[in-house]
Amino acid sequence: MGSRDGVGRCVAPPRRPPDVVADARYRSMVTTAEMPIPEQTSFPRSRIRVLLMENVHASAQDVFRAEGYQVETLREALDEDALRERIRDVHILGIRSRTQVTPGALSEARRLLTLGAFCIGTNQIDLGSAALHGVPVFNAPFSNTRSVAELVVAEVIALARRVADRSRDLHEGRWRKAATSSFEVRGKTLGIVGYGHIGTQVGVLAEALGMQVLYHDIASRLAMGNNRSATSLRDLLGRSDFVTLHVPETPLTRGMIGERELAWMRPGAYLLNLSRGSVVDVPALAGALRAGQLRGAAVDVFPAEPDGDSDTFTSELQGIPNVILTPHVAGSTEEAQENIGREVAEALVKFVNTGATAGSVNFPEVEPPVLRDHHRLLNVHHNVPGVLSSINRIVAESNANIEGQILATDPSIGYLVMDLDREVSREVQQQMALLETSIRTRAIY
Ligand code: NAI
Repeated sequence: MGSRDGVGRCVAPPRRPPDVVADARYRSMVTTAEMPIPEQTSFPRSRIRVLLMENVHASAQDVFRAEGYQVETLREALDEDALRERIRDVHILGIRSRTQVTPGALSEARRLLTLGAFCIGTNQIDLGSAALHGVPVFNAPFSNTRSVAELVVAEVIALARRVADRSRDLHEGRWRKAATSSFEVRGKTLGIVGYGHIGTQVGVLAEALGMQVLYHDIASRLAMGNNRSATSLRDLLGRSDFVTLHVPETPLTRGMIGERELAWMRPGAYLLNLSRGSVVDVPALAGALRAGQLRGAAVDVFPAEPDGDSDTFTSELQGIPNVILTPHVAGSTEEAQENIGREVAEALVKFVNTGATAGSVNFPEVEPPVLRDHHRLLNVHHNVPGVLSSINRIVAESNANIEGQILATDPSIGYLVMDLDREVSREVQQQMALLETSIRTRAIY
């Protein structure tokens, strides 16, 4: 793993041997700064090895197999020692949430080009270390948007009709048939806090049910359909019959719905939180529900959630009438898993074929154009002063004609994409790879 020196600059990670990867359509050669430059060799796409662990959805295999890659799948996660063994020979690694990708494992990943987290979270991966090894990581944060939006709509109706209580009564042998406190949602107002991917989908679906839709967002957002922007959070809370939260967890959203905000809500309104547990003050919500100030709530996310399946979950919300509790499953559907498999696999293939890092969680993002009649060099380097002038000198001395160049940086690494004449690309690649500051240099042609 790379580390930082006394002034916070990146220090090169331990040296790795070079690797060469190529495929039939986009051949590519990878070199690292530290080792002698190999003879330019290439091998077909069928020799790109993909290892998918933790039962990643079959849709991912389809994408890789269509490219002609070799795909191996494992049902389980591997522990660190086993991963260190297996990671040495793979070019693309796919994991879900249980595999810990540590600096130790990454230091063995001599051939690894890119890593896919076939899930939403990426805490299980040492992202900084992956970047310092020149390995971009991709996930699929929006593959389950629709799944969440559908559950919100279902729960809005279920709360209005007290479905959970009616069902529990019958399971426990009580027949309670009454229209009291049961409502249609048509004509009611739904307030959406956080009008991003999920919030906008909810707005569209709710309008189809005949609801009025208000939204509040800190960013300026274009209204979908007849949805209307509220003037403030307080305005939205005071005008909505149902309030649904779709914000990320940030310092601003932590505890954003507390006692004061609950008091701003209409008497008899309903609250839904399928976003992040920290957004709502749970004891305050339990208090408002027990006091009858709110008619019901649906909660899918909690400030502290068990790591795995557990029989010991407790919450102040348990036992309160018309409160639907679900174990963080809003985004968990077969369709979402399939989408995740396909979307992450497509991002990995695109990176291998073109160098695109748009959507990567640990790399400067670039979206280079389709490569035509040129060779493309991809250089990952430590972001220290003077890198670009060293690279420019190499290019100038080679008399290379640069067709296009994109540089994107973050505080620790820089990522340079350069399209240039085929005749000189190999020479430039070799010189670039020899620079002390280079982490990884790859050519696509
Ligand atoms: P997104 O990033 O597309 O949208 C979030 C929106 O919230 C953005 O428009 C942003 O400007 C807005 N926002 C941020 N801070 C705000 C504030 N203080 N006040 C008002 N608006 C604010 O995110 P997406 O995909 O719509 O996800 C929303 C939430 O849903 C996230 O917290 C995510 O973790 C959660 N989620 C939960 C799932 C579950 O299984 N329960 C599954 C998927 C996502």
